[in-house]
Amino acid sequence: MKGIVLAGGSGTRLYPLTLAISKQILPIFDKPMLYYPLSILMRAGIRDILMISTPRDLPVFEALLGDGGEFGVNFSYAVQAAPKGLAEAFIIGREFIGDDSVAMILGDNLYFGDGLTDLCRAAADRDDGASVFAYQVEDPQRYGVVSFDPCTGKAIRIVEKPQFPESDWAVTGLYFYNNDVVRIAAGITPSERGELEITAVNNAYLERGLLQVAQLGRGYAWLDTGTHESLHDAASFVRTIEHRQGMQIACLEEIGLEMGWLDPDRARTRAAMLGNTRYASYLHRRIRDLVS
Ligand code: DAU
Repeated sequence: MKGIVLAGGSGTRLYPLTLAISKQILPIFDKPMLYYPLSILMRAGIRDILMISTPRDLPVFEALLGDGGEFGVNFSYAVQAAPKGLAEAFIIGREFIGDDSVAMILGDNLYFGDGLTDLCRAAADRDDGASVFAYQVEDPQRYGVVSFDPCTGKAIRIVEKPQFPESDWAVTGLYFYNNDVVRIAAGITPSERGELEITAVNNAYLERGLLQVAQLGRGYAWLDTGTHESLHDAASFVRTIEHRQGMQIACLEEIGLEMGWLDPDRARTRAAMLGNTRYASYLHRRIRDLVS
């Protein structure tokens, strides 16, 4: 399975923070925002990852992440010329995807919760159809909203930013698709707001009876980073968990080691390069723990 991180957009709601740099480069406590969604794809077992962003921001992503060797993965890069919608990622990424299945995650989505890795691996292992995740929110009007049949519990439909939501279950920004997504995305037309909607792709699977919607319950966190307040809240959340547990969320080198993708010597060199930081000390400690 291939992976895509979609990290474009203009980030206007975060001005002036994002006047000159990408939203997805901003820090969430001790690391760039992008590390968090990347960690989800890596933990799902995905090693070949395409980063899509704006012509302005892509060079910064490349400078930050390189070819992925520091984490034991392979990064490719592609430009989205204008924010024409989430589903355009599968048009831009057509060659990269090839005949594979593909997972996409939004570069500003932050997930936390025991069991998420198992859910993602199960979704990645499915041969047919698509899997998405739904999360209960207070403000469903801002999202794609999925309603469920009260008797069977099966998803009935997804509506993008409904004025009157039929449920409070938002479809989150992590999607697993079989290869049909390339054809489906190429066939949809722009919505009223002029975007190729991911909701149109998901509804195409739903209509064929091939969309699995997993509800993430109270034990999970799906955090927003769209406003100054939510950005601050996300950073506080990460800081609280990391300080309490003495474990890092989304330490990509650690995940590379755990997956058996990253050579311990390369991880040691990387930790030395990261200098006298908490992140580097943590990485040194994890190398000692994991490589006996
Ligand atoms: O966050 C989950 C929601 O993401 C889903 O519930 C919705 O169904 C889905 O449409 C999407 O909602 P928005 O359309 O409001 O997402 P937004 O425009 O905020 O874009 C999400 C991220 O993707 C954001 O960081 C910018 C980036 N993006 C967005 C577009 C439209 C791109 O990189 N390229 C794009 O063309």
